[in-house]
Amino acid sequence: MTQDNDLRIGRYKLVKEIGRGAMSVVYQAEDPEIGRMLAIKLLKHELVEKEEYRELFLREAKAAGRLGHPGIVTIYDVGIWQERPFIAMELLEGQNLDEYLQQNGTFSLEQASDLAKQLALALDYAHQNGVIHRDLKPDNILVLDGGRRFKITDFGIAHVEHLFLEDEGGKSKDKIMGTPAYMSPEQITGHGVDFKTDLYSLGVILYQVTKGELPFQAPNYAAMMQAVLHLNPQPINIVSEQGFMWQSIIFRLLQKNPDHRYPTSDELLEEIETLTKELTQNKEGLAGIRFVSMRARWAISLSAVVLLVMILGMVWVYNKQNKLMNQLVFDYGNSMVQIISQETREPLLLEERITLQELTRDIAGNSQIRHLSIRDKDGIVQSSSQPEQISKPFSLPPASQIQQKTSDAQIYSNLTDYDQEVVLFDSQIKYQDKVIGNAFIAISRSNLKSATQSSLLAMIIWMFLIMLAVFSGVYWLANRFIQRVNETRHVIRELRNHGEADILKVDTHDEVGRLQQEVNDLSQKLAGLTQTQYISTSPDPSLLETITDLDKTLIISQDEADSEIGKDSG
Ligand SMILES: Nc1ncnc2c1ncn2[C@@H]1O[C@H](COP(=O)(O)OP(=O)(O)O)[C@@H](O)[C@H]1O
Ligand SMILES: [Mg+2]
Repeated sequence: MTQDNDLRIGRYKLVKEIGRGAMSVVYQAEDPEIGRMLAIKLLKHELVEKEEYRELFLREAKAAGRLGHPGIVTIYDVGIWQERPFIAMELLEGQNLDEYLQQNGTFSLEQASDLAKQLALALDYAHQNGVIHRDLKPDNILVLDGGRRFKITDFGIAHVEHLFLEDEGGKSKDKIMGTPAYMSPEQITGHGVDFKTDLYSLGVILYQVTKGELPFQAPNYAAMMQAVLHLNPQPINIVSEQGFMWQSIIFRLLQKNPDHRYPTSDELLEEIETLTKELTQNKEGLAGIRFVSMRARWAISLSAVVLLVMILGMVWVYNKQNKLMNQLVFDYGNSMVQIISQETREPLLLEERITLQELTRDIAGNSQIRHLSIRDKDGIVQSSSQPEQISKPFSLPPASQIQQKTSDAQIYSNLTDYDQEVVLFDSQIKYQDKVIGNAFIAISRSNLKSATQSSLLAMIIWMFLIMLAVFSGVYWLANRFIQRVNETRHVIRELRNHGEADILKVDTHDEVGRLQQEVNDLSQKLAGLTQTQYISTSPDPSLLETITDLDKTLIISQDEADSEIGKDSG
């Protein structure tokens, strides 16, 4: 490329065409003075003749030129080249949102809410400065940083409020301007618009980036107008709490009556912020916790508490019972050994071994007495239920453990030396306060032991039955509760997905009943909110002509509209 052949618009050297809209062609160009690249937007050749379009071009420069915001393309300069107006502005590398969507498909909720936030901030700034865009659509949004940043461009049909203008003196005749698929009901019918028309278009864009289709599709302008005025968009159907929040934001933006849209961008931004927070929290929210039904949770934890209390009680009872039983054995053994001492002291004193042995045999006939032996003061066994011990020195069975001790008697327990558990009693035999020997008996504990054991078993069975009753009772109660909670949840899900649901039958007045009542109230309220309310405005009959390019910016002046009517009637 030589210097001479360079095509220049004003002082700007054209590099290449980078975009094209309804009104203009956009070029990449270079400002040789400062050596920077920029974008030059030039009015299309075929529109040069029309005064109206030249005016619009200047309007864009006027409207956007006053704005400086990271979410809005910056205008540097405006000029006329060969009678064609042009605008010089910052060059943005990237695609417009329409091309981006075609390449990358729909947005995730995170990306979409990010887009919503950036656009809402930029629009808020423009509105604060008295500029209403009026032609917000994917074509006019540039995507930067691979989808992380967005900038609004093309303020071609923007409206600058009188308050902010020195000299527009009543000039703004009602024209129909905008892109039908993105136009608000008030805009599409040619009624006066305010900043809320941009909120509506934002709603259409957000709907489109998440659902992949427009809220209303129509083959021609008349049908589009009918749809925008009278139909409800289909739900977006992102099945999650956040999806529902997102849909309610979009549906509020898409409200047909501008008064029902967000009154301020702040309120919109607040809701987007809440959603963003939910989205980040949700990542580490319920998903990380394993689901355990409350009937299991309740039944198991209550049974566990009951079990613990019962075990503690049982241990206490068992100990108490054991103690009593032991006392009983001790008392019984003591009196037994006393009686034996009484009975045997005379034969022992008189060394009547045969009488002693007979007595021993008689007493040992008692099945509770496992061992009985009488010894003299030297410790030599005089009679015994185990005859091989007679005449031998007495020895305590080795596994005996002392339990109680008094001056003239000892009690031992012994678990192993006999064929069953026994308690051993060893008591002195006295005659006129002189010790003449000892009586020794082993009394079986097995009967008492089996009595304690069977009462323990009864307690365990009883405990098991109580546990079973508690478990099934709680399970049954929780089940009834869960059933009602699930019904309510189902209705809430229906509400989220379809904006409407059956009314719950509330037949129990308790906390859940009240919750259900609240849900019923909510669903009645939502029936009004999630469905964009239809408004009646009489469409201009001249516009019911077929216009097929519903995604191209459209400008119908009142003159044209009038002549269209003329054509119709003539
Ligand atoms: N500053 C810019 N940098 C890069 N590309 C741009 C810029 N402005 C516009 N474009 C591209 O040119 C296309 C048409 O520009 P736009 O301003 O929307 O024109 P029109 O008013 O004719 O619709 C845009 O969709 C975009 O792809
Ligand atoms: Mg455009």
